Amino acid sequence: MTVITEIEDLRRLYRRRVPKMFYDYCETGSWSQQTFRENTTDFDQIRFRQRVAIDMTNRSTAVEMLGQEVAMPVALAPVGLTGMQHADGEILAARAAENFGVPFTLSTLSICSIEDVAAHTRKPFWFQVYTLKDDDFMQRLMARAHDAGCSAIVITLDLQVHGQRHKDLKNGLSAPPKLTPAALANMATKIGWGLKMLRTPRRGFGNVIGHAEGVSDPSSLSAWTAEAFDAALDWDRVRQLIDMWGGKVILKGILDVEDAKKAVEVGADAIVVSNHGGRQLDGALSSIRALPAIVDAVGDRIEVHFDSGIRSGQDVLKAWALGARGCMIGRAFVYGLGAMGQAGVTRALELIHKELDTTMALCGRRTLADVDRDILLVPEGFEGRWA
Ligand SMILES: Cc1cc2nc3c(=O)[nH]c(=O)nc-3n(C[C@H](O)[C@H](O)[C@H](O)COP(=O)(O)O)c2cc1C
Repeated sequence: MTVITEIEDLRRLYRRRVPKMFYDYCETGSWSQQTFRENTTDFDQIRFRQRVAIDMTNRSTAVEMLGQEVAMPVALAPVGLTGMQHADGEILAARAAENFGVPFTLSTLSICSIEDVAAHTRKPFWFQVYTLKDDDFMQRLMARAHDAGCSAIVITLDLQVHGQRHKDLKNGLSAPPKLTPAALANMATKIGWGLKMLRTPRRGFGNVIGHAEGVSDPSSLSAWTAEAFDAALDWDRVRQLIDMWGGKVILKGILDVEDAKKAVEVGADAIVVSNHGGRQLDGALSSIRALPAIVDAVGDRIEVHFDSGIRSGQDVLKAWALGARGCMIGRAFVYGLGAMGQAGVTRALELIHKELDTTMALCGRRTLADVDRDILLVPEGFEGRWA
């Protein structure tokens, strides 16, 4: 039995247990994967200041995100096809998040539908919307999220067009998976995954199939996504979507100060500084390098959240110290889910929490309210000097 002491242990188990097609879908970035890699390696450049002989009793990592009390400033990021990483994946991940006391975000491209996740959880979750051309579908999608009691929507702005991920094309990624000889041979080695998948009825895109015109069966979905995503999206449309929802809105995929200012102008409640986990614009800055300038520009006017590259509680603390008031984790929770289902997501959250709490203590702080850039040693020129 592997003793699980870090997120990397979960990734290794996940790799053994889940079909290659879905592992590759998660563990990949676009094109050369430079941004995907730098999202994590740039974290390593930042160091902590060790402080000693400070009373470290009564510590807490509890804060608020969007006015909601959370056990730590971490939310589960929207991840499409989560229900292919493990049967009923979205429901299991949402349950782990609510038991732990952190927000869960359901992707538009989830396997379990909004209604299904709501029926199997007790607390409101966040719902992520992709911006689609079909206004009627968008209105119905938002109405469904309202009816399901979602407490915020996350509008993803960095996927107007799809970044290319080589492996997905080579593997012929689909949901449910196409049973090619290569896929079948690989799945034959993932018995636990397959048996659970056979037992669940949830194997298609739950929010879309039967809800979007012309999509009644999964085989027409890829054609639908290629056509349906709104390449013409602009800030007026973002404003319309914010009005359409009428509740709390988080704009995800901001990596530039100018866009962060626009997000403030259109009246969003929060932004997520993100490059989609390195899955969209390869060659873009890592999120952690982009964060400080955005916090400096808008941090006093909007809640700045962060994602892309978080693999530990130390990473969460670094982002927090640089001004992020919440972090989303994508792959870190998917590894846990694929490795061990709901218990694996809980384990991922426990690991991150322990690392966050212990590091905070060793930096001489008892609460996150006491943490600022002063706990960090950031190399000169970390943000880069770009002409
Ligand atoms: C497998 C996978 C699927 C994703 N699907 C979505 C999605 O449906 N909607 C979305 O807004 N972001 C999606 N993302 C991006 C995540 O929400 C998040 O920005 C990213 O995973 C953060 O980087 P990290 O994985 O390094 O934590 C996805 C990411 C991964 C890894």
